[in-house]
Amino acid sequence: MGILKEGINEVIATTRSGTLCNAAPIGIRWEKGSYSLILFFGSHTFANLERGGGIVANFVFDPVLYVRTAFEDVEPSAFCEEIVGDKSFCRLADAEAWVAFSAMVEKKTPRAMKIRLVHEKEFTEKIGLHPVNRGFNSIIDATVHATRYRLSRDPGLKAWIDYHAGIIRKCGGARELEALEMLLDYIA
Ligand SMILES: Cc1cc2nc3c(=O)[nH]c(=O)nc-3n(C[C@H](O)[C@H](O)[C@H](O)COP(=O)(O)O)c2cc1C
Repeated sequence: MGILKEGINEVIATTRSGTLCNAAPIGIRWEKGSYSLILFFGSHTFANLERGGGIVANFVFDPVLYVRTAFEDVEPSAFCEEIVGDKSFCRLADAEAWVAFSAMVEKKTPRAMKIRLVHEKEFTEKIGLHPVNRGFNSIIDATVHATRYRLSRDPGLKAWIDYHAGIIRKCGGARELEALEMLLDYIA
C-alpha cells in the first residue's frame, strides 16, 4: 500500500487546463487495489478530466486551504510542475506528499462521471506530524456540506454545518477558526 489508504482519501486534487493549474478538495477511493473518483458536473476538475489527462493527490493539512480551494481559485504561485516520465503534472508547491495519476473516464452520466486512476508516481517531500483534531476533521465535513448547501440552500445541510461549527469552535485552533469564518462568509 502506498500513501493513500483504503477507503476515501479527502485530498486536495490538482489538475490542469493548458497552462492553468486548478486545485479542489476531492475524495479519491482506494479499494481492492484500484483507485477511482466520482466527479459531479460543473466543476473545473470535472472539465479538466473529461477528456482524461492527469491528476495529483496533494497532502496538505491546512484547513484554510481546504475551504479556499473548495470555493475559489488559488494563485498560480501555489503550484509547481512535476514531470513524471513523459507527462507533466501540476501539484501544490507546499504539499507534504503527493501522488500523481493518469485519469481515464470509465462511466459518464449527465450529472457525474466515474474516473479510473492509474498510479504514476508518489513522493513524500517532508514528514509532518498531525495530531488528531476534531476541529480540523469538522472543517472537512462542514466544507463538503457547504459546497452542496451553496447550491441547494437545503436547511438540513445548514444544520450539519452548524453542528460542525460548534465542534470547530470548541476543538479547533486559530487556523481552523479562520477557515470557519471564511466558510461562513462563502455561504452567507
Ligand atoms: C472534502 C471534500 C471532498 C470533496 N469531494 C468531491 C468529489 O469527490 N467529487 C466532486 O465532484 N466534488 C467533491 N467536492 C466538492 C468540490 O471540491 C467542489 O465542487 C469545488 O468547488 C470544485 O472546485 P473546482 O471548480 O476548482 O474543481 C469535495 C469537497 C470537499 C470539501
